[in-house]
Parts: sequence; C-alpha cells; structure tokens
Amino acid sequence: MSLRVIQFATGNVGRHALRSIINRPGLELVGVHASSPEKVGRDAAELSGLETPTGIVATNDLEALLALKADCVVYTSQAETRPQAALADITAFLAAGTNVVATSLVWLVYPPHADAWLREPIEAACAAGGSTMYVNGIDPGFSGDLLPLAALSLTERADEILVQEIFDYGSYEDAEFTGASFGFGAPPDVVPTLFLPGVLASIWGGPVRLLADQLGVQIEELRERHETWTATRTITCAMMTVEPGQVAAARFAVEGFVRGRPAIVMEHVNRLTSQAAPEWPFPPEGRPGVHRVVIKGVPGVEINTHVGGGRIDHNEAGVIATAAKAVNAIPAVCAASPGLTHLSELPVAQAHGLMS
Ligand SMILES: NC(=O)c1ccc[n+]([C@@H]2O[C@H](COP(=O)([O-])OP(=O)(O)OC[C@H]3O[C@@H](n4cnc5c(N)ncnc54)[C@H](OP(=O)(O)O)[C@@H]3O)[C@@H](O)[C@H]2O)c1
Repeated sequence: MSLRVIQFATGNVGRHALRSIINRPGLELVGVHASSPEKVGRDAAELSGLETPTGIVATNDLEALLALKADCVVYTSQAETRPQAALADITAFLAAGTNVVATSLVWLVYPPHADAWLREPIEAACAAGGSTMYVNGIDPGFSGDLLPLAALSLTERADEILVQEIFDYGSYEDAEFTGASFGFGAPPDVVPTLFLPGVLASIWGGPVRLLADQLGVQIEELRERHETWTATRTITCAMMTVEPGQVAAARFAVEGFVRGRPAIVMEHVNRLTSQAAPEWPFPPEGRPGVHRVVIKGVPGVEINTHVGGGRIDHNEAGVIATAAKAVNAIPAVCAASPGLTHLSELPVAQAHGLMS
C-alpha cells in the first residue's frame, strides 16, 4: 500500500520534493501547502514543473492538511528565519500522528546536539502522536553523516576526519537567505548571521558530535573559525553583483577537539566565482563543487562527491539532492520508532522505486 504524503512548501527544495513524490511508486501525494497567495489553488503538477495534473491543489489551510491524517509530511518551508512558526507547523503534524521528514530546522540533523527549546516540543509531539521526525539534506546532512560513515566503514583506525563542502555558489539564486547569511556582497566588517558566536557550532557541531558518538570519543571543545575574501573587481553572477571591497568568498569551520587537537572538522569554502580566494582549496579536477571527506588513519580514505553534471548545474543539483534525501527517507521514517531521530538510528539503504 502506498504511503500518503503531504508536501509542505514549494520553494527551491520543495518543488523538487513535490515532483519526486508525484513520480515515486509507493508514495501517494495527498496534499500540498503553499504560503504565497499566487500559488494557493494551483495544481501540484504545475507547481513542480510537471504536465499531467494531479488533482491535488495547493492550500494554506493547515487544519485541512492535518485532517488528511497523512503518513508523512515533507517539510521544506523556510524555517531558520522563522523557527517558532515552523515549530508550530511541525509539532501540529507530529501530535496528529503524521511523521515528518524535513530539510528545515537544520540544527536537528543530530538532535542530541540541539537546544532544548527546539528539541523538547518536538519530542513531546512525537510522544503524543506516536510519530517520528527526521531532518537531513546534503549539507548539513549527507556530507557530515552518511559520507564520513561510509568512509569510516573502510577504516581500521581514524586519526583525523575532515569533511569539506567546497562549492562555487555563483549560480545559486538565493541572495536573500544564503547570500545574506554568508555575508556575500557586504563589507567585510559586517558580521553575517552565520558568523555570530555559536551559530556555526549550532549547525555543524551536530554532525561533529554524531561522528564522535559513533566512534565513542569525547569532544572536549567545539571551536569555530571563519574568514572572508573581498573582491578586487566587480563580480557579476546569478546570486548577485559584488563590488570591489565586498565579500565574495567565505571559509569557515567547526572543529571538534579530541585529546587536545582538532580531530573531527566540518569545513566550508564557498565562492561566488572561481577567481575568488585563489589561495583557498578548490574542488578536484576543476569541478565547480565537491562534498568530500578525508580520513587520516589506517588505511586513510578520501571520498569526493560531485552532484550534478550534464545539463544540471551543481547548485541546482545540490537542491535536488537535498529534496531527494528527504523523500528517500520517507519509508524508513514511517517504519521507525516514535521520536526525533537521526541517521544512526535509521537504515542507511534509503533508495526505493527510483528507476524510471
Ligand atoms: N541541509 C541542507 O543541505 C539544506 C539545503 C537546502 C536547504 N535547506 C533548508 O531547507 C529549507 C528550504 O530551503 P529552500 O531553499 O527551499 O528555501 P526557500 O526557497 O527560500 O523557501 C522555501 C519556502 O518556504 C515557504 N516560506 C517562506 N517564508 C514563509 C513564511 N513567512 N511563511 C510560510 N512559508 C514561508 C515558501 O513556500 P511557498 O513558496 O510554497 O509559499 C518558500 O517557497 C530551509 O530551511 C533551508 O535551510 C537545507
């Protein structure tokens, strides 16, 4: 029997999740939430770029969606800028017995690391509804859990784990959220959201702790570092135009210290053009982006992941992959024990009905 699924939000990630749900055997789309008035009343097919109408139209009526008693909701509404509103949506579904897979609320990729104000209402709603919630994506998500865990499975002994996203964001048309939170286009003395004390650790500290817990080691300290690179000439890209003196690349990391040294590190290097920050690391083989893990130890393992290729731009691919990560998890999450879960508690084989 098919799992009955609601797609909540039809933005960058949501429209790909919607298409994926509609096309996937074993999943039945039963509802779509859209917040913007121009999307309400439109067919899910139209909102996800498909031709054949589904008969399921977008609504902004939360109660009507709750009443569907779906098996699962895929929650991809923007949440980091409106966490309390997102929390209210999500806990309503969980308390009503509908499981949630989400790309939003990125602090929850490893729930034991998340703050109580976020974790506790979700745990209470899961207990009330006998439901399960899982948050993942490509980064944070795949790059910091499944990818290093795959590499660690080949490892006799690990001394250092370095996870990197090295990505040219120039073609990513998201100046409003990603651009602003990374500080792109701003003077270097303006501190963007991501670099406020504690913010990097709140997001990428979770994957550091997940790996530490898997390896049975204690993180003594989570240290944040960040730096920016300013443009020397005007840069024009799909995300924005950057004038000389404004930030065009950012490099940051969360370092998990074990026995006095940074043993588990999650690092980002993000540019708006390949010309930016020439002294920082680049993806291998002239690629525009990579999610990679490098493990020093015995025997030493390096895995480089490149999403996209052919006609799919790497930034678009990252968004498609994030949506797929959520949709592919639906059967596992619906079968899981109630509660706020994470990758270490779910089967890693999450690829059902993908072949056309
Ligand atoms: N972990 C990862 O790898 C990863 C990668 C990408 C994104 N994410 C996360 O996934 C989420 C979605 O990302 P996105 O790029 O798809 O975001 P987005 O396109 O900026 O926004 C998603 C949608 O959220 C809804 N929304 C925005 N403001 C709202 C409001 N005030 N009230 C109600 N709904 C509102 C809108 O839905 P409608 O258009 O349907 O009205 C919007 O299209 C974010 O939380 C982001 O941080 C995670």
